[in-house]
Amino acid sequence: MSSKTRIVGAMLAGAVVAFGMAGTASADEKKKSVYEQVVGDIKGGKLNVEGDHAAVVNLVIKRNIPITYEYVASLMRTPNAFGAGPACIICHHSNDPAVSYRGLDLSTCEGILKGATEAPARPIVVAGKASKSLIRNMIRNNRMPLGVSFAYPTDTPNILAVRDWINAGAKDDASGKKIIELFKKPGAFGTEQSCVDCHMSNEEPPSFHELDLTSVKGIMKGADSIAMAKEGKPATMVVIPGKAEESKLYERLIQNRMSPGIDPGEDRDHANTQLLLQWITQGAKCQ
Ligand code: HEC
Ligand code: HEC
Repeated sequence: MSSKTRIVGAMLAGAVVAFGMAGTASADEKKKSVYEQVVGDIKGGKLNVEGDHAAVVNLVIKRNIPITYEYVASLMRTPNAFGAGPACIICHHSNDPAVSYRGLDLSTCEGILKGATEAPARPIVVAGKASKSLIRNMIRNNRMPLGVSFAYPTDTPNILAVRDWINAGAKDDASGKKIIELFKKPGAFGTEQSCVDCHMSNEEPPSFHELDLTSVKGIMKGADSIAMAKEGKPATMVVIPGKAEESKLYERLIQNRMSPGIDPGEDRDHANTQLLLQWITQGAKCQ
């Protein structure tokens, strides 16, 4: 018996002892270890670890394994952590906006919880609420039109027209018609493709996110109206009349996905993105 075989043998024996104990009446009252739960799922044919991220989802996230700040710290320091691109802390490493973009310090837990300190200062994490956290949008959401360059300005007359239209109440009148013309016009927002090339009806396929930008009525229906209805939920509103800053339609025109220059084809649900969001869901604790 090689030493390797012996070690494996000993491990198996240990595992058998552990399961034997779990089978006794007194041990049953104890909470099952995560490993015991997994073994149970394997026996029941319920465990899926195939494919891109199934291991992380099914072994870590679904079982609520605590994600430590230490892991989050390592993500901020590692190139390509959320898809090809430089490490976050290269550009966000202090609260001094003279040397760190948006005065955002991603190199410490306190810095992450504090958020951007340059005006408009704002938090990027809402502890316990990943879906309300700006950092989630910044890592997952591509700027529109899909593929537009980071170098394309965010205050062009057309982008400002969309902002002003929303702030004026997003009306379905002559002002609304002008906005729809922009969405139909190739080149209006920095790429050859027009918005309606990809968002032309409220059905997917062919329209991404079931978003219809061909009419004000279509816009007001929101995104994913059919998919969400199947789950008994309302569609995702992309315009909140009077509030451009809170409207996804405007946000998507000005907010660049991080890291700058990232290929929009990079997985929006990268395993590390899911782990970062799980850390937030679990309360964004610094310990
Ligand atoms: C090469 C430099 C660079 C890298 C690397 C980088 N960022 Fe940024 N980041 C910026 C710039 C520039 C801005 C402001 C402009 C913008 O939002 O488009 C910004 C803005 C942000 C904001 C918005 C802050 C606010 O309130 O406006 C967040 C959040 C953010 N980055 C997170 C990240 C994360 C997470 C990473 C790592 C995946 C990362 N950034 C990597 C340059 C960078
Ligand atoms: C080449 C195809 C393409 C073009 C062109 C395009 N989009 Fe998108 N759009 C997408 C995809 C794909 C998503 C979802 C995934 C993502 O964030 O990358 C999306 C998502 C969106 C969302 C978010 C919907 C939600 O569920 O929250 C909005 C808003 C949006 N696009 C607006 C626009 C606007 C405005 C334009 C034109 C300036 C535009 N898009 C052009 C492909 C496109």
